[in-house]
Amino acid sequence: MKRIAVLTSGGDAPGMNAAIRAVVRAGIYNGLEVFGIIGGFEGMIDGDFIPLHAETVSNIIQRGGTILKTSRSPRFLTQECMRGASNHITNLSIDGIIALGGDGTFRAADDFQQYCQIPFIGVPCTIDNDLAGTDYTIGFDTAINTVVHAVDKIRDTADAHNRLFFVEVMGNDSGQIALMSSIGVGAEAVLIPESITDTDHLIQLLDKGWNRKKTSCIIIVSEGDEEGGAAQVAEKVKSHFDYYDTRITVLGHIQRGGNPSCMDRVNATRLGVAAIEALLAGRKHEMVGIVNNQIAYTPFKNAVKQHPPIDPSLLKITTILSA
Ligand code: F6P
Repeated sequence: MKRIAVLTSGGDAPGMNAAIRAVVRAGIYNGLEVFGIIGGFEGMIDGDFIPLHAETVSNIIQRGGTILKTSRSPRFLTQECMRGASNHITNLSIDGIIALGGDGTFRAADDFQQYCQIPFIGVPCTIDNDLAGTDYTIGFDTAINTVVHAVDKIRDTADAHNRLFFVEVMGNDSGQIALMSSIGVGAEAVLIPESITDTDHLIQLLDKGWNRKKTSCIIIVSEGDEEGGAAQVAEKVKSHFDYYDTRITVLGHIQRGGNPSCMDRVNATRLGVAAIEALLAGRKHEMVGIVNNQIAYTPFKNAVKQHPPIDPSLLKITTILSA
């Protein structure tokens, strides 16, 4: 193996740049030439490859986003585009590719085998922390810290006005961001897709809080909750409380940006180096992950979205502490 390429694909995640830096520097350390593919699979189709050097990745470990740009590319799945991408790889004599992304990225890389036998190694990057084969995805830790910082600010104003806030967080159909951040901010309640939302229970809880003169209430609502987002849940609940002044905040894409946390930088760096070592060891079509703090390899076919049952003791913490 002499020449490899790296790409970022799907939703960006803080820590992607730290992983790119690790891939490039570990590749060079092992005598490889490294190329970057701009815009994920879109760049593979269009032949948008650039050489990456040690200095290209200077001063990026602390930056959010991705210097390589990213995209979701439905057209990559067409025969014509896969053939085109395959030609670019052959013309440039690329021997292996490292793909930073989520389950959609790994599925696309797996499908690409029909047209090109190039070994692919995946690195899990998504703020949702919902991939099988890793305890941890790059970006999750930064996202929950972003939520905690934002909700701490909301708590100040909620407390000043005796207000009830419904705060919607990302996660798609996973409640991991909501669950962890709700514990971190001391929320009065958390609504996640993995557990059935009981609106009557929520109303009783808020009533109890009011009776014991709570000055603010924060309800964290996962965007994928079956009762809907924060606006829908607030609508159902607020008619029961003429005493609470209700507000809604949707945190949105601020959860995807910003400087990665130390944990995201460290894990992105470990996984970037592990991805290079995996390619050099002849591994292919696998995602490198971290399981019980050890590097683990999962075939792309199994590195799918997963929604493991939520530990009920974690859910219970919010109920116990908001009583
Ligand atoms: O998968 C990451 C994620 O941020 C989800 O939490 C969210 O539902 C989705 O991406 C938003 O996607 P987009 O940036 O395309 O709106």
